[in-house]
Amino acid sequence: MKILVTGGAGYIGSHAVQRLLQSGHRVVIFDNLVYGHRELAQGQELIVGELSDRDALYRLFSEQHFDAVMHFAAYAYVGESVKHPAKYYYNNVVGTLNLLDAMREHNVKKIIFSSTCATYGEPREIPIPETHPQMPINPYGQSKLMVEHILRDYDVAYGLRFVSLRYFNAAGASPEGGIGEDHNPETHLIPLVLDAALGRRKHITIYGTDYDTPDGTCIRDYIHVTDLANAHLLGLEFLHREERSEFFNLGNGNGFSVRDVIEAAKRITGKPIAVIEGDRRAGDPAKLIGSAAKAKALLGWQPRFADLDTIISTAWAWHQERFSAKVLT
Ligand SMILES: NC(=O)c1ccc[n+]([C@@H]2O[C@H](COP(=O)([O-])OP(=O)(O)OC[C@H]3O[C@@H](n4cnc5c(N)ncnc54)[C@H](O)[C@@H]3O)[C@@H](O)[C@H]2O)c1
Repeated sequence: MKILVTGGAGYIGSHAVQRLLQSGHRVVIFDNLVYGHRELAQGQELIVGELSDRDALYRLFSEQHFDAVMHFAAYAYVGESVKHPAKYYYNNVVGTLNLLDAMREHNVKKIIFSSTCATYGEPREIPIPETHPQMPINPYGQSKLMVEHILRDYDVAYGLRFVSLRYFNAAGASPEGGIGEDHNPETHLIPLVLDAALGRRKHITIYGTDYDTPDGTCIRDYIHVTDLANAHLLGLEFLHREERSEFFNLGNGNGFSVRDVIEAAKRITGKPIAVIEGDRRAGDPAKLIGSAAKAKALLGWQPRFADLDTIISTAWAWHQERFSAKVLT
């Protein structure tokens, strides 16, 4: 199949591109490179374009035929979304509408969408099932939930079939090397901890040590990026097999605390990691763990890199390859 991958020069999108190529699919990447990197496109056709540019999208779909779209392109900084909601609603919602309209105009009827556990808001039960109420507590989560609603309506009205994948915390890097996480600014715990191990930052701050968790720090569900990428391929198969739309959580179903991650990183890297204990941040639930039972049952998905050490080891290999020339002096 020929797949359009929006955001394919970014972190998770580039891992999906790698898996698509390994499975014999053809790939075209559409990315504005605001947060993506040309080299993560892995030599595939890269169209440097903007979701806000309807003409560019229509042109692309009239010039090339795609069997399906994997839609990763979005802004994903929760804190920034609180300060600049317009930026998030325009990019994540209006940008997606432009893409969906170009798709339906050109009869492309299958999409895999990158949704998020941030659509749930404060969890009422752990692990969180897909049926959990969706009450996002920030504009980023809200923008993704709006897209889920739009997808539901486009399915009914226009026969556009979707698989919406609600990721928990993406982490790790391809075990084959060459691609990984490089966000600027970086806000995710594992690369920040590895930055401290590599000497790219002086310390790591723990935001809150008085949560109702065994060690007082927040617990999150880390899911290896290659496992996420695999789920996209299974989502594609599901759309072809079942011809219907679905929502799936993608997580490991177990959680690790901030201290667990720091301790594992110290062990794996063999480096000291300086820690500062700071105050809680607004809007951080104590625990976020997803149930992926539905993805396992309906997609046949099984995380292969579920243990924390594998997640951190693959991230560390990439981190050294990518950043060791840029250490602080
Ligand atoms: N990283 C996570 O833990 C996580 C968790 C849940 C959901 N998600 C979602 O997964 C997707 C990918 O996340 P990521 O961590 O790989 O982020 P990323 O920033 O690395 O990748 C997103 C890519 O989209 C591109 N992009 C953004 N806006 C665009 C636009 N208007 N036009 C064209 N390209 C645009 C960026 O340049 C970037 O390359 C996002 O939709 C994000 O919301 C990520």
